[in-house]
Amino acid sequence: MTIFYFTGTGNSLAAAKRFKGKLVSIPQVMKESKLVFKDEAIGIIFPLYCLNPPKMVREFLCKAKFHTKYLFAVATYGNLAGASMQKLQKSVGEYRYRFDYMNTLLMVDNFLPNFEINEEIALLPEKKTEECLKQIAADIYERRHYVPKATKRDTELSVMCEPLMAQQDKGENAREFSVNGNCIRCGICAKVCPADNITLAEQIKFHDKCESCFACIHACPENAVHLKNEKSNVRWRNPEVTLEELIQSNQ
Ligand SMILES: Cc1cc2nc3c(=O)[nH]c(=O)nc-3n(C[C@H](O)[C@H](O)[C@H](O)COP(=O)(O)O)c2cc1C
Repeated sequence: MTIFYFTGTGNSLAAAKRFKGKLVSIPQVMKESKLVFKDEAIGIIFPLYCLNPPKMVREFLCKAKFHTKYLFAVATYGNLAGASMQKLQKSVGEYRYRFDYMNTLLMVDNFLPNFEINEEIALLPEKKTEECLKQIAADIYERRHYVPKATKRDTELSVMCEPLMAQQDKGENAREFSVNGNCIRCGICAKVCPADNITLAEQIKFHDKCESCFACIHACPENAVHLKNEKSNVRWRNPEVTLEELIQSNQ
């Protein structure tokens, strides 16, 4: 089984590691010219941003060709998934394939403008992350077929989020990031960026192909990278994932 993943703060990689397949980073594989993959089972794991997969994941799904008997997608998210899976199934239909299994997994919400990380960690038992992860892993092991249904409200939410997603897709979100005097120019922000959007000259410079994953903000060892409207300065990296693994995934 081959599992393609995208991660900013480790949640999606932590989940991917539990499915016991060959892990392939989407930011890495996107550098290759030929995106044709063959395996008995193939999965894609990614976070939701504004109720959608990251732009790079959508581009990967558009360009890739999968030769497999079982294709699955798992989205990690923090609070609301809307009709994300149904929307994704519809869009890959345009590329002439479909997912056999799709599911969503509630984890810590790393969206700093709305959520405080300590409060999010306290909510984990309520989110039943571990229980759901075990169920999804068992479903995939047994090659179950399932696509969740969307309620009217889910669909409305997804429609409401479309302008936000379009804004995000411009890649300009890092214009809202700032670097304070704690910065020691270690370059970790650039190394964990899946989009190669950060360069280190005299100052840290953010360009305009930001994927909005917040990896640079959460991974900074000096807590020097900030959002104007963050709820607190507490940061998150999934405890099942090391900084080295994030760098290897995204550099
Ligand atoms: C820019 C941004 C937008 C997000 N949008 C959503 C969202 O629409 N719904 C949601 O439930 N979580 C949202 N989240 C939270 C992430 O989907 C969630 O924390 C995810 O598990 C992070 O995965 P990662 O650690 O693999 O990057 C958002 C996070 C970011 C940074």
